[in-house]
Amino acid sequence: MSGTSPGKCTVVVGCQWGDEGKGKVVDVLAADADVVARYQGGANAGHTVHAEGHEFVLHQIPSGILHPGKRCLLGNGVVVDLGQFFAEYDNLAERGLDPRGRLGVSARAHVVLPHHKVLDEETERVGGRKIGTTGRGIGPAYEDKAGRRGVRVGDLLDSRRALKAVAASVEWARSRLRVLGADPDLALPGDATLDLGDAGANLERLAEVATDVGAEIADALAAGREVLLEGAQGTALDVDHGTYPFVTSSSTTAGAAAAGVGIGPTTISAVTGVVKAYTTRVGNGPLPTAFDEKMDARVRRLGAEFGATTGRPRRCGWFDAVLARYSARVNGLTGIAVTKLDVLDTLPEIEVATAYRLDGESSSAFPPVAADLERVEPVYETLPGWQSPTSNARRKTDLPPNARAYLDRIEELAGAPILMVSVGTRRSQVIHWE
Ligand code: IMP
Repeated sequence: MSGTSPGKCTVVVGCQWGDEGKGKVVDVLAADADVVARYQGGANAGHTVHAEGHEFVLHQIPSGILHPGKRCLLGNGVVVDLGQFFAEYDNLAERGLDPRGRLGVSARAHVVLPHHKVLDEETERVGGRKIGTTGRGIGPAYEDKAGRRGVRVGDLLDSRRALKAVAASVEWARSRLRVLGADPDLALPGDATLDLGDAGANLERLAEVATDVGAEIADALAAGREVLLEGAQGTALDVDHGTYPFVTSSSTTAGAAAAGVGIGPTTISAVTGVVKAYTTRVGNGPLPTAFDEKMDARVRRLGAEFGATTGRPRRCGWFDAVLARYSARVNGLTGIAVTKLDVLDTLPEIEVATAYRLDGESSSAFPPVAADLERVEPVYETLPGWQSPTSNARRKTDLPPNARAYLDRIEELAGAPILMVSVGTRRSQVIHWE
């Protein structure tokens, strides 16, 4: 940070199907940042961070909040669950990390209301295609946004406007529920007033945090401050670039970061992609490098691969370099952070998918159609494991040669330089790559 030269603006983006360990990476990078802002998603995300001897699971508030003195923002691209937001706020305060004055929510951000969650669950229950959503109302809230009947944070600051906006959204939900064959009077938690009541309990507090996120970030950068833009979910869950329709309802990729906080794309100076040293997926949809049952259970246990939001077991598989390379291109990665290397410590051999075989043809492209991805056969390269612990490594040279060779190969296949390797859940368990 120097004088009036513009500050650095880095996007942190997931490069697989979410759960890559972005929370940990943001937590490490936040030490040098002044502002951390989320640009999309909602309380479907689950960032688990170990700091100050405690475990924190944050769904709605950026993990940067765990560093005292950092300003944390939710951009316009986020859908905000106010109940969750203030529950996390109060929990942080109780645990000695008072977020007062450090949190801002874009007045342009849409809110997730109770009826969005009902719609989410009912659509999953009776709708034709089961996506395996987190049930947090994310899809219906983004549908309302695109359908121009959504409720924004700015609307809730005026009670008359709020009532009108919520009523319109509830009315739509009722008609959707009827189409789905559900009785709205039974399915919905109450009438429009009650729905507002749920959010309404937090209205006064909301006025304290509502802000213009784009303006704040522009000012911070102009003053030479460092900004992190934190993505949720991952590239393969992006509504356009992911395995549609088995995706979330927002643009998760780095290109969405500028639009999701309200700054210009030329302001972004770096894009760090986060990849886990293997692959996981929660929810439905293809996972080409999925392990067999035995390995799946082993790695799930070693990596504690259970959803931070829903507790669902994550499916596990080998590192998919086809997806990593695709993510590097789609996000314009300038570097990568590899997480959970230590989970592979005991394996005698490690496979990496370098291409896919489809209808007899081998290709290194990530297919645009999920049904094709469902049919691909990964082409694997086998690397020797290192079979020794890495969790105490703090420098590249502390790692066993086979672990370094594995990381070198990932870097080469992904086509972006490694910046950081995480070898455990604690903040200190990280190797800064040179
Ligand atoms: P939704 O975002 O709740 O609508 O869920 C859509 C898909 O994205 C489902 O497969 C979810 O399991 C997945 N998903 C949503 N958020 C996350 C996340 O933070 N990590 C991993 N998967 C997620």
